[in-house]
Amino acid sequence: MRFEKELYQVEKITVGNDTIEVRAFRNRIYVDKPVQEEFQQMNVFAPETYYQGGTIHGYSLHTAPIFMPNLVGGYMPGMAGEPVGMPWEQEGIPNTIFRALQHGYVVATPAIRGRVLQNASGEYIGKAPACVVDYKAAVRYLRHFAKELPGDTEKIITNGTSAGGALSSLMGATGNHPDYEGYLEEIGAAKERDDIFAASCYCPITNLEHADMAHEWQFLHVNHYHRMHMRMDEGGRPAFTQEDGQMSELQIKASEELAKRFPDYVNSLKLRDENGALLELDAEGNGSFKEYMKRVVLASAQRALDFGAELSDKKWLIIRDGVAVAMDWQEYVRDITRMKSAPAFDALSMDSPENDLFGSGQTNMRHFTEYSRLNSLTGGEMAEDGAVKRMNPMKYLEDNAAVKARHWRIRHGECDRDTSLAISAMLALKLKEISCEVDYHSPWNVLHAGDYDLEELFAWVDEIAKS
Ligand code: DHB
Repeated sequence: MRFEKELYQVEKITVGNDTIEVRAFRNRIYVDKPVQEEFQQMNVFAPETYYQGGTIHGYSLHTAPIFMPNLVGGYMPGMAGEPVGMPWEQEGIPNTIFRALQHGYVVATPAIRGRVLQNASGEYIGKAPACVVDYKAAVRYLRHFAKELPGDTEKIITNGTSAGGALSSLMGATGNHPDYEGYLEEIGAAKERDDIFAASCYCPITNLEHADMAHEWQFLHVNHYHRMHMRMDEGGRPAFTQEDGQMSELQIKASEELAKRFPDYVNSLKLRDENGALLELDAEGNGSFKEYMKRVVLASAQRALDFGAELSDKKWLIIRDGVAVAMDWQEYVRDITRMKSAPAFDALSMDSPENDLFGSGQTNMRHFTEYSRLNSLTGGEMAEDGAVKRMNPMKYLEDNAAVKARHWRIRHGECDRDTSLAISAMLALKLKEISCEVDYHSPWNVLHAGDYDLEELFAWVDEIAKS
């Protein structure tokens, strides 16, 4: 394993009215036995002033936190980032990496394998848990060359959105766990720790084997769906098409059956609110957990009200003297609308991104829940338990062999319908219970998105880095 310290570029980059000067260490292969070099390499950037003894916000060459975003979406391969020129960025508007460097962070941005990659013999080489394994290998590489690289490897903060948010949560939940060791050895990862200081997770699409039931618990009786399909155009920019439809009888039946399975799962977690009260659901899906979820949404509305938003058009929301006091859950769900038909993740036709994620070297798509395996329309195979477990941070929170990130920031938009709001809430609650420090809320009127509040994100990083 190599890190050529003398191989770098110093670049002055201007976006809009802002200019930064950075030292760029690009295309560093972070494992000894890569299976796909393009997606097992990393770019590392540091403010150039650090090499002249300068400081930014009190940070210097070896004290600056290492902000480590992944650019994974849809569990597809994620590319290594750049401070300018990413396909989706808007002209003249600094991207996350640019802003992080300007703020004084070192930025390490690994490419990561994804579900569609194949080798020359047609074997799949990016199925679960390859994405987590690569992210861990990149952290290990940073530690292995800590003396040569900029930044403080005890202050690594991962960041990602959606599938990338899920990966960030896995990084925070599974530090050094032996479950990943064999995979890390296979690709020749450095023999170092892979636990991290903090995880920033936007709308994590995670806890996948329980995501169908959580989704139907939330969206039950909303049988019409609206969804946007994203594909990349020729220029690599996202392009969207709209699909609307009514769920079939089979899908409505799946929705009802899956919704019935959620209370047992929630109750098995023995979640507690900030006052220690148990959060549960009865067989109808009502109870203290649902009341807690209403409080998450009400808190979201309250923050919007406090910032002067006008919410009187929200008929499901009861506001008295500027205070969001109550809500009608069913009408709220109708208002935000359903995006995915049932089952939302482990599709009966076995053609979802998650079916693809849980494929194997030889099999492209597999099921990963008992319900969809039993009701499969394709007779597809089931992924092995270990693969499903390795993709679920919830499975590691009470396992002492996993070193947890001490600090967490989780954001999941109030009208995000890619996964149930319960998914992030359960993660946040469990993390608090095991004494992690968690900053969780659901920003008002925010869909499935990330990095929309960088000032607040960086303020959080600064606070935990200096504490
Ligand atoms: C993503 C979104 C989804 O709805 C999903 O099921 C998986 C991944 C994403 O945007 O990364």
